[in-house]
Amino acid sequence: MDFRSEYERIKSTVDDALASVVPKDAPVALRDGMEYALLGGGKRLRPVLYLAVLASCGARPSADDMKAACALECVHAYSLVHDDLPAMDNDDYRRGRPTVHRKFGEATAVLAGDALLTLAFGLIAGASCRDAKFARISALLADNAGACGMVGGQAMEFEGKAADADRLRRITSLKTGKLIEAAVVGGAISAGADTGPWKEYAGVFGAAFQLCDDLLDSDSGETSLVGALGREAAKRELDSLVGEAAALLKKTGGDTAFLEELTKAFLLRNTDGI
Ligand code: IPE
Ligand code: IPE
Ligand code: MG
Repeated sequence: MDFRSEYERIKSTVDDALASVVPKDAPVALRDGMEYALLGGGKRLRPVLYLAVLASCGARPSADDMKAACALECVHAYSLVHDDLPAMDNDDYRRGRPTVHRKFGEATAVLAGDALLTLAFGLIAGASCRDAKFARISALLADNAGACGMVGGQAMEFEGKAADADRLRRITSLKTGKLIEAAVVGGAISAGADTGPWKEYAGVFGAAFQLCDDLLDSDSGETSLVGALGREAAKRELDSLVGEAAALLKKTGGDTAFLEELTKAFLLRNTDGI
């Protein structure tokens, strides 16, 4: 199996499913903002993880699994729209294009984020009506995306407290790790697998993913773990997390060949000696 082409194959099934989730009868500016945020690029890591874990446990994705996968991407897309706002990271560009608020204005960016989050839970609610396992996935997504998960991690970042390495690791485990965990554990729930080993793998993957992102972002500065540890120590920590993630993957009991490749490709992505 060629990892890249398999990744692209799964990603294109996600892109096809995402293309029709934004309601066509929403007000035009809102719909344009939502589609711009949701459909314009991105690696689709979280839905691909959900589908890859499902496959690794020997299950085939149903139409409702595609809805759950889309819901994960909707939550991710909303989080980035809000994260880029002037009140938060105040970023002008994402994925090589103006951010949603730069292109459509702040009010539309706030509302597009709100509507993407609401849409995510609408997608899973529909699936839950047909199969109760999606109600479990929905509860997991709510916990992991909310005040004690991703949003909680974002909130800690804005508390203005001095951030030592341990606090930064805690923030990362929430703001980045928890949505990744929802994707991985969600796939395991859908497949009827034991979720414990998948949760452990997801925790390490999430920590390493953010560290890799910060190493690639030359502006990440003192507010990131790379700033607190220094680049060389951060690279060593990343190396050790990648080894740990690979070992935890083996304990899941699934057919993990694709996920092993994905783990290396995403956590050691790009050059520069990382
Ligand atoms: C970016 O996530 C934000 C982080 C949590 C580090 P991704 O790197 O998955 O963003 P896209 O969707 O591929 O642009
Ligand atoms: C992204 O975090 C937002 C969330 C994880 C919710 P960062 O601020 O670290 O990532 P980029 O650099 O904007 O993609
Ligand atoms: Mg940001």
